[in-house]
Amino acid sequence: MSNTLTIALSKGRIFKETLPLLAHAGIVPVDDPETSRKLILDTNQADVKLVIIRASDVPTYVQYGAADLGVAGKDVLMEHGGEGLYEPVDLNIARCKLMVAGPVGGAAEPEHMRIATKYVHTTRRYYAERGRQVEIIKLYGSMELAPLVGLADRIVDVVDTGNTLKANGLEPLEHIADISSRLVVNKASMKMKHERVKEFIDRIAEAVGRSD
Ligand code: ATP
Ligand code: PRP
Repeated sequence: MSNTLTIALSKGRIFKETLPLLAHAGIVPVDDPETSRKLILDTNQADVKLVIIRASDVPTYVQYGAADLGVAGKDVLMEHGGEGLYEPVDLNIARCKLMVAGPVGGAAEPEHMRIATKYVHTTRRYYAERGRQVEIIKLYGSMELAPLVGLADRIVDVVDTGNTLKANGLEPLEHIADISSRLVVNKASMKMKHERVKEFIDRIAEAVGRSD
């Protein structure tokens, strides 16, 4: 096993909100993923690399050890299942809620209910726990459109300000889970690179909640 630490991050809000935490751990990326086309970013530390991937792919890269560590939303981790991962730190960033939503003042739940979501497993589990059989339609984005065009009765998606729901005539109906992003660690890396990984986790945990 090499001594390099590879950290998986997604572009956008997770990258932006993780930067100050990384800085506290002494890690500063050399390139900006928003402008660079590189998928592996060097940092000021020769033995620390960042891999830039889709948010929903982060648990997979870390599970298989393609990255030692990563940052992923709890929504993504719930959907992935968390196999092969430790989840040592709640980073308290990218906070939102996973909700069931539907048309404002809409009809009561139909007997045969169709739900559009990218969170297929989480949604199935949520309704199964309530003894409710539903039809789940897998989408990859813009879930809010589905009820407007008759594709689904409800959606399951993350909600922050509620503006996206509101702009599309939808309202939150049921709260499934509070979401924030977590630091995840490959189980083998935790053993094989224990000292480095442990030190990194401690520095990140220390940075959480600090305002500098
Ligand atoms: P993918 O590219 O894999 O489809 P994505 O487009 O959902 O993922 P982002 O929009 O960057 O990726 O979201 C990353 C994480 O940030 C989500 O998994 C969720 O935990 C959180 N998140 C999503 N939307 C919001 C929001 N509006 N406010 C706060 N946090 C959010
Ligand atoms: C996310 C999510 C919702 C929206 C909720 O989309 O998919 O559509 O945020 O936030 P709100 O309650 O504050 O409106 P995002 O902005 O990340 O765009 P995306 O669909 O490209 O991920």
